Amino acid sequence: TKIRLFKTVAGLRAYLGGQPPGKTVGLVPTMGALHAGHASLIRRALGETDRVVVSIFVNPLQFGSNEDFGRYPRQLESDCQFCEDLGVDAVFSPSPEELGIVSEQETTRVIPPESMMSTLCGLFRPGHFEGVATIVTKLLTTVEPDVAYFGEKDAQQLAIIRRLVVDLNLGVTIKGCPIVRETSGLAYSSRNQYLSETERKQAIWIFYALKLAEEAFKQGERQRATLLKIVQEELALHPSLKVQYLALVDPQTLSPLDTVEEAGLLAIAVYVGSTRLIDNVILRVR
Ligand code: PAJ
Repeated sequence: TKIRLFKTVAGLRAYLGGQPPGKTVGLVPTMGALHAGHASLIRRALGETDRVVVSIFVNPLQFGSNEDFGRYPRQLESDCQFCEDLGVDAVFSPSPEELGIVSEQETTRVIPPESMMSTLCGLFRPGHFEGVATIVTKLLTTVEPDVAYFGEKDAQQLAIIRRLVVDLNLGVTIKGCPIVRETSGLAYSSRNQYLSETERKQAIWIFYALKLAEEAFKQGERQRATLLKIVQEELALHPSLKVQYLALVDPQTLSPLDTVEEAGLLAIAVYVGSTRLIDNVILRVR
């Protein structure tokens, strides 16, 4: 069936309001430039809910002034085709005005706990998670899905969204989905489009290094210092990769861990040339 593309809140609401009672709605929020990572969230939503809405919105609130908002890939037509091929019911691609963003200064904002923002990416992207929390809240209250799907690729984002849904009693189930990787191990990202051939080859070492630490963890290593050192030493062999941060934190609260008791989020941000990539592994004791 042909995909429905809604650019207005009223249009989407009319469509969802016209569904038979009892049908569940799944929402997959994205910024477009859809790839296999997004596809896995969409497939999961299609398997678990009756009507799947994919939102495509390059959110100005979550980009810093020195970041790539202007050149972030925008390809609505091919993204709609991508969604149609997967069997998505509707794409919601509103303008900023439709979401109540008239100017970037003038919108109601959702501010996550400082403790969850002042770590990992939050340290280097001031305002980013306020922007994410604000837009995700707008999307959740606009679409009112039963379930919303997010990737573990953006682990800090996922933790912050789980927290905001609890704190604001949004009554939506949040499901986290595993990171999808190329066969090389490189995590899919819309920003991989920025990489040159050589940079793409170098980027593969990011996950390789995380894997080394994961292996050590599986062999019983639990100390932050040792686990971080394994990653640092491997990445030091590849001087074209510039580590921005490397940290071991609690996956839910994001507070730093000295040792992994139950689960640890080993997260990294790396510059490959001028492109900033993030990746992580969750270390789980079982
Ligand atoms: P975007 O980067 O387009 O990602 C949309 C969703 O896809 C996020 O939940 C992200 O974690 C997930 N995702 C991206 N790459 C993935 C991969 N390789 N494996 C698994 N999941 C992956 O994240 C955003 O957009 C925005 O911040 C958004 C939540 C839409 C708010 O603007």
